[in-house]
Amino acid sequence: MNEVIQKNLQYKKYVIDSNLEYFKPHSTKIEKTFAEDVSYSLNRDSKFISPKYFYDKKGSELFEQICNLPEYYPTRTEIQILKKIQPELEGYLDESFRLVELGSGSSVKTRLILDVFDKIQDRIEYFPIDISEILTESSELLQKDYDDLHITGIVDTYEGGLEFIEKYDDKKNLIIFLGSSYGNFNPNDGKIFLKKINSVMKKDDLFLIGLDLVKNKETLENAYDDSQGITAKFNLNVLSRINDELDADFDLDNFQHVAKYNEKDQRIEMYLKSLANQSIIISKANLSLKMTQGELIHTEHSHKYTLAQIEEVMNQTDFKIKEIWLDETENYSLSLVSKK
Ligand code: AVI
Repeated sequence: MNEVIQKNLQYKKYVIDSNLEYFKPHSTKIEKTFAEDVSYSLNRDSKFISPKYFYDKKGSELFEQICNLPEYYPTRTEIQILKKIQPELEGYLDESFRLVELGSGSSVKTRLILDVFDKIQDRIEYFPIDISEILTESSELLQKDYDDLHITGIVDTYEGGLEFIEKYDDKKNLIIFLGSSYGNFNPNDGKIFLKKINSVMKKDDLFLIGLDLVKNKETLENAYDDSQGITAKFNLNVLSRINDELDADFDLDNFQHVAKYNEKDQRIEMYLKSLANQSIIISKANLSLKMTQGELIHTEHSHKYTLAQIEEVMNQTDFKIKEIWLDETENYSLSLVSKK
């Protein structure tokens, strides 16, 4: 591997081959460790574990399975909309655009957008931003299918990667943030994140975001508590991860997956419910935990939006809406926006 130092960008550049390179910051911003986070978030009356810890190897595999469940409509609905809008999306792009993805997609969705680029460009530039090393694996998979695809991965937080893009050059960017991942932010943090995206965008850049819509409680709760119990495994897996990585003794049989739709706050709330009075030791977080029967550990919020709220949020974060595309059942949305 050929290693080049980009001094002014504070990133190290790794060149894998003529079509694949990636940038990594010299020093990652000081982020709390897993042990520090867990020691804070479980050592309080209202306990929680950040959803970012779902995605170890096993958790990522389980999430893939969730995406294919009959009850989990967001993934297939987003794919359906993307297929439908390919010709329209093409109309917004030209040969001076590159694709920037928040998250590293080896998925069908990235390919559906790359197919649009492929129609209008001889050489496609794709910049995935992802903190995890999975970025190189997924990039190599994509390269097998597109001859003229030039991938520049940025192994960093979304914020870090967005700043990287801002300083990189003057090319136009189509930034994509799919899968309704925005729903996992609380509304305030979400707006701060959208403002960040807006602040790095140039006048002609575009931003495509997938957002899940408010719908009936039953459909929502089934999507997050499926009949095969995969979402339950996904939720419980975070405790296995703490057992493995932080030397803890959670007994998974003593916890139950709970997913409830909170109509007032328009969000699915996921919890792990303690089924007994129990003590847990988390050695590497220096924590000895007592939980009572029925006590909850909050693990995720997944917010759902109405069209009026999407318009309002975009307006508040200085975006101008170009299109909001929906599927036929109006379950899910894709919004294409630019800077106001
Ligand atoms: C990643 N994120 C958008 C998913 C969601 O729908 O909130 C995570 C998920 N949690 C349970 N099922 C799926």
